[in-house]
Amino acid sequence: MVEKSTNVVWHGGSVSRPDRERILGQRGATIWFTGLSGSGKSTIAVAVESLLVGSGRLCYRVDGDNLRHGLNRNLGFSAEDRRENVRRTGEVCRILADAGVIVLASLVSPFRADRAQVRALHDEWQIPFLEAFVDVPLEVAESRDPKGLYRKARAGEIKDFTGIHQPYERPEQPEILLESHRLTPDAAASGLIEQLRARGIVR
Ligand code: ADX
Repeated sequence: MVEKSTNVVWHGGSVSRPDRERILGQRGATIWFTGLSGSGKSTIAVAVESLLVGSGRLCYRVDGDNLRHGLNRNLGFSAEDRRENVRRTGEVCRILADAGVIVLASLVSPFRADRAQVRALHDEWQIPFLEAFVDVPLEVAESRDPKGLYRKARAGEIKDFTGIHQPYERPEQPEILLESHRLTPDAAASGLIEQLRARGIVR
């Protein structure tokens, strides 16, 4: 990436993240769901959001499809555009988590290096970052085909489709593994919340 912002100086304030977290009674963190299109990332994130908000926790879903309607609307699906999509979204997640919010990000984010970059952004600010791999065989995602995109990809109407024309690089050591073909979304969501408890993100 070409660095164009020069001669800029960070302007700190007098309020810290722990100050904000005390107000909210929770710790800010990013849970990053990655997996094939149709793996169930967004469905599980919606279930987690509903459980967390139902028990009085502030969380926010950052969905790849949704951000592509606005912030990322000028990006397509080449490897380069996906890298920028993941980078921008990672920055948004870091800001929200720094505000004290539990962020539920769902993006295909097929490339390891791009996900590592988002993790590094969070590490830099010492914000918890958990990679949640929604693992499902390609055949299962393709048979679900909730948006009809696999059919279009096979018919040649969509190019650069993950799993068909482009690779999905599996996480090597995700903090959380969710095999969505073996679990209901509600069971996956409850299991994930247990992990958040074990890590002190929710009490
Ligand atoms: S990412 O790879 O850059 O992280 P993102 O999660 O934002 O992708 O967007 C993926 C969503 O866009 C999919 O859920 C699917 O609905 C849609 N989509 C459209 N074209 C493609 C494509 N070529 N590859 C993958 N997903 C696509």
